[in-house]
Amino acid sequence: MLTTPPPALLPVYATFPLRAVSGHGSWLVDEDGHEWLDAYGGHAVATCGHSHPDVVAAIADQAARLLFYSTAVPHANRERLADALIARAPKPLAKVFFCNSGAEANENMLMLARRKTKRSGVVSLLGGWHGRTAATLACTDGAKYEASARRAGMPLSRKVALNDLEALTAAVDDTIAAILIEPVQGFNGARSCTAEFLGHARRLADDHGAKLLFDEVQCGTGRLGTFTAAELFGVSPDALSMAKGLAAGLPIGAVLVADSLVDDIALGDLGSTFGGGPVPCAAALANLDVIDREGLLANTRDVGGTLACHCAGLEAVQAVHGRGFLLGLELDRPARDVQAALWEQRVLTGTSTDANTLRLLPPLSFSADEAELLFQAIAKVLA
Ligand SMILES: Cc1ncc(COP(=O)(O)O)c(C=O)c1O
Repeated sequence: MLTTPPPALLPVYATFPLRAVSGHGSWLVDEDGHEWLDAYGGHAVATCGHSHPDVVAAIADQAARLLFYSTAVPHANRERLADALIARAPKPLAKVFFCNSGAEANENMLMLARRKTKRSGVVSLLGGWHGRTAATLACTDGAKYEASARRAGMPLSRKVALNDLEALTAAVDDTIAAILIEPVQGFNGARSCTAEFLGHARRLADDHGAKLLFDEVQCGTGRLGTFTAAELFGVSPDALSMAKGLAAGLPIGAVLVADSLVDDIALGDLGSTFGGGPVPCAAALANLDVIDREGLLANTRDVGGTLACHCAGLEAVQAVHGRGFLLGLELDRPARDVQAALWEQRVLTGTSTDANTLRLLPPLSFSADEAELLFQAIAKVLA
């Protein structure tokens, strides 16, 4: 059943062995009508589940009224969403810039830090993954990505090991514009920063006049059980990026910034044709409503916490990384083999840059029963 890409598509993606025709909640339905339990969440995008009726209705309603107008025309959805994000974000984050993807959000965030500090250097982390634009590849860990950035003429970031306070101290000096950190590293198998490390980064940035930037593209929008990772760790960055799950399935990116980073921003300093369009903003507003109304942050903490505990009890699980619904199961065997064995049970999971870590990133609406089904499937494969 493994799918091969049609000749007109570049073969750059590894694909799961199904062709999806519909989805509901935590389930995907394939062309044969089989249901697959989605513990990959459409790559951390299906925040409130696949095709949540409220999100679908908000999209349809907005599309029928006005499908699109650029930022040349003010729109209530854009303004309401900016207010809603700032209301949920820690201070001093106070302003929002909308774009269309995670890489674009990070690119703009880096641009703002470089603009304000008039410096170019960036410190980022080994194991960090920030996107596929030239500037974000330069901050992403991995020889292949760094080679791409170098070919594009981008200066590479200084990379330090996760939670290594001394290395971070040594890397940050007065040439550094930004310290860019994923508080929980998604692609790296949900390896988590400590609150101490993030607090240290905050102090170093302040001491050296650099900006602290959180990439919350994967770990934000409630995935850790709090709306932002910054809230979970009790450390406020100068800016944070969001994307993936923010509009529950429509493309969107957002940079939330402190006033101090943008107090001299001028017309035309940033821009995006599609950023903050009425339809993705309607989807994001509906998604935020569902998160609140259905108690999805509490669900993420409770069900994610129980799932992590159960998985930690399996003999083949060496460690469980991450929080909420961004979990990395470090196994005694290759995660790819386990992922493939789970396909046999019609269960979707992710792998990570660490060959032995299986990544779980289900919708935040994943129920206790669905988590039990997932756990039983994993236990069966690892037995
Ligand atoms: C932490 C993180 N940052 C940035 C990105 C890039 O996002 P996008 O693919 O929307 O450009 C990703 C994508 O997986 C990510 O996980």
